[in-house]
Amino acid sequence: MANPKLADRIRNLPPYLFAAVDQLKQKAQSKGIDLINLGIGDPDLPTPESIIRRLQRAAENPANHQYPSYDGMFAFRQAAAEWYRRRFGVPLDPSSEVLTLIGSKEGIGHAPLAFLNPGDVALIPDPGYPVYHAGTLFAGGRSHWLPLKRENHFLPDLDRVPKSILKRARLLFINYPNNPTSATAGPEFFAKVVRFARRHGLVVCHDNAYSEIYFDGARPMSFLEVDGAKEVGIEFHSLSKTFNMTGWRIGFAVGNSRILAALGKVKSNLDSGVFQAVQEAGIEALNLKDSITDEIRKVYQERRDTLISGLLGLGLKVDPPSATFYVWVGVPKRFTAMKFTMHLLDRAGIVTTPGSGFGKSGQGYIRMALTVPNDRLMEAVSRMERLLA
Ligand SMILES: Cc1ncc(COP(=O)(O)O)c(C=O)c1O
Repeated sequence: MANPKLADRIRNLPPYLFAAVDQLKQKAQSKGIDLINLGIGDPDLPTPESIIRRLQRAAENPANHQYPSYDGMFAFRQAAAEWYRRRFGVPLDPSSEVLTLIGSKEGIGHAPLAFLNPGDVALIPDPGYPVYHAGTLFAGGRSHWLPLKRENHFLPDLDRVPKSILKRARLLFINYPNNPTSATAGPEFFAKVVRFARRHGLVVCHDNAYSEIYFDGARPMSFLEVDGAKEVGIEFHSLSKTFNMTGWRIGFAVGNSRILAALGKVKSNLDSGVFQAVQEAGIEALNLKDSITDEIRKVYQERRDTLISGLLGLGLKVDPPSATFYVWVGVPKRFTAMKFTMHLLDRAGIVTTPGSGFGKSGQGYIRMALTVPNDRLMEAVSRMERLLA
């Protein structure tokens, strides 16, 4: 068929703003230009050795070759619950308060199908991880954007959501440590979210994918640490960033058992769970000693220090992140986010992400990822120095 008639949910997806950057990137690559890619949130460090070994052994066991259970292996859910207890002091019942996911993206994308009827509203951070909006759109819902502003420490101002919106709102997405701004949130904000969700009957989905990428010992908290959180919400977690396992596709959601059961019901009708050998490797990861993740954090912290001191030296507006491997950089006044991204790519061979690609409020910023070695960051800074001089 030459021109299949597309469903509205596909046609209504926002334009892929990164496509223009991709095009220019490919052109530069074909010319043999030495690109420094700070555009992607994908760790360049390898998965720890013992996780790989465990996968190898588990892959040889025929019992792992069959369909896995929908909710995930009990042993994996137990390991996730135990990890949450150790890391956050949050007790979880592995049989009803942990759900295995094919990466947290999968759970985030499917959650709106469980809670939104057509026309219902999801409250979504702007700028934000694009899957919150895409999942909402696919479920026939509408997104109401919550601007994240620097003057509010990139936290949404919940008091400003109009009453008419709140009447139709069913779902609230939040994400701290935050992609793309790298902001973190504390107990006061999370307690406010619980009160807000109770008052307006919202399901809270907190995306905690970056909780283990933190600096200077400032460990981010879990939403579930605050009183009442488990009554109103769930938290998504991922092994992707914590253990350099983005390609393995494993994550989990924890929290309210009824919310998880509803998400599980959607999933059991659409997917058949995570390959058990990968779940066994996940157990290995969750039981790793802190010293291994400490090493990973040390690498990112050194890179953060390099990039931040370089960017500040160039007079750019940037707050040093205390978590995530992203740096959210204010663009010089004469540029838009997109123009500055293109300028860096075209004139300095540096790939970044325009903040406007994450939502309207991302205008005026670019995102740089610390997913290249330190010497490449130094090289990026000196190229920018020549360009902006
Ligand atoms: C904020 C945020 N949440 C969730 C994800 C999804 O991660 P995964 O599906 O690998 O668990 C990402 C990936 O980049 C992300 O940035």
